[in-house]
Amino acid sequence: MVKWRDSFSVGIAEVDREHMELINIFNEIHQLKQDRLRLDKFDGIIEILGRLSDYTVRHFETEETIMQRYNYPEYAQHKKEHEDFMAQVNNIDVSQIDFEQDSYLRGIMDYVGNWLCDHILDSDRRMGDYVCAVK
Ligand code: FEO
Repeated sequence: MVKWRDSFSVGIAEVDREHMELINIFNEIHQLKQDRLRLDKFDGIIEILGRLSDYTVRHFETEETIMQRYNYPEYAQHKKEHEDFMAQVNNIDVSQIDFEQDSYLRGIMDYVGNWLCDHILDSDRRMGDYVCAVK
């Protein structure tokens, strides 16, 4: 489980709220993986992947609008990171979910967890520092 902490804040309230949503999605993936009473997790995995996909579209649009509004110089690179993440989420082969569901969930957790550390704590915070400095 991951808890929100101040170090996640990028200094932009709307972005922080959406990052909290992603932490909630991450924790739901974790809970589903830990649920020993639920033998078939297929529907739960599909539901979470759908929410993750919807979230990325909405959240990345939020950030990209802000970056464009303030002429963020690293916009193109940041947008590329978003596109790569969305491609990974949207290219997941759901036909494989029937097999080894817990290890599948582990893989999604690792991917989202790495995103929290690598993208939010680095790229998003850099964007937030810039926006806070110029607005
Ligand atoms: Fe919060 Fe750049 O994604």
